[in-house]
Amino acid sequence: MSFRLQPAPLARPNRCQLFGPGSNTKLFEKMAASAADVVNLDLEDSVSPTDKDSARANVIEAINTVDWGTKTVSVRINGLDTPYWYRDVVDVMEQAGDRLDQIMIPKVGCAADVYAVDALVTAIETARGRSRKITFEVIIESAAGLAHVEEIAASSPRMAAMSLGAADFAASMGMQTTGIGGTQDNYYMLHGDTRHYSDPWHWAQTAIVAACRTHGVLPVDGPFGDFSDDEGYRAQARRSATLGMVGKWAIHPKQIALANEVFTPSDAAVAEAREILAAMEDAKSRGEGATVYKGRLVDIASIKQAEVIVKQAEMIANH
Ligand code: COA
Ligand code: MG
Repeated sequence: MSFRLQPAPLARPNRCQLFGPGSNTKLFEKMAASAADVVNLDLEDSVSPTDKDSARANVIEAINTVDWGTKTVSVRINGLDTPYWYRDVVDVMEQAGDRLDQIMIPKVGCAADVYAVDALVTAIETARGRSRKITFEVIIESAAGLAHVEEIAASSPRMAAMSLGAADFAASMGMQTTGIGGTQDNYYMLHGDTRHYSDPWHWAQTAIVAACRTHGVLPVDGPFGDFSDDEGYRAQARRSATLGMVGKWAIHPKQIALANEVFTPSDAAVAEAREILAAMEDAKSRGEGATVYKGRLVDIASIKQAEVIVKQAEMIANH
């Protein structure tokens, strides 16, 4: 470990973030009743320009009146390149009560984007005497966002989570695909006559995870557009979990159970992690730093790996 210790992210479940357009009021109660850990009330790209004002009013009313239980309640504001974002922040911060937990900033391209929103949020928070600090989550969904991902992760003490937004990211990068996450038909290696499909999102995901883990931010996988493809969602989510992400978006209620399934460490994984910890305790009592578990090496690094799984399971169970 570096002399500078890796900060811990917020200890909150973030397995599934369920989105709903702020213009679709009939979804709010359903979102609140769902099994998602986070609800994202959207003012951005699922709301048409003609509905921006009414969607903002709907979202404020919903935050104040709906019983959101223990969920993290987040509002996705419009991007800083639009004329809407400042009013999103001002109206939501002034009119939605303390039940609002988080603001999601889309299309962040540099640390100064977050700084600008932070300045506005901090002023309103202080003026209103809000007791609980609003947290931020951002979406990395542009070439600039990924190029500046580390400074963005470090941009504010409010930073709690960061997601990869596959669709806008693909567009910004000039990727030749209209798919939102998952396997892409033209991204393959050829071995003989056999095509082996690779993962075009892999580099962006690992860059996000590294930036997030360096600065104590939760890394989250974004949307999977084809909500009829459960196995495709599962495969994408399993890759994300393997890379260190803690959750994934749901853009349809069908995807909530899939995200919760993948991002809750399984009983078998937790049992194995506990066995590894026990094997290492035994090794330690014999004065050894390495031992054999089920025919494979485990050593002091294995303790940290096993603890990731056990701690995540305990955090989710205790919440
Ligand atoms: N949250 C909660 N409930 C939802 C929901 C959501 N995001 N989307 C759909 N539902 C509900 C529907 O109201 C319906 O409920 P009912 O059985 O009580 O009638 C049920 O789930 C089945 O919905 P379905 O008919 O399959 O979908 P739809 O055609 O109504 O809506 C979408 C499909 C994609 C338009 C809708 O899911 C949606 O708006 N998703 C979020 C989009 C978004 O926020 N995008 C921004 C982030 S990328
Ligand atoms: Mg987007």
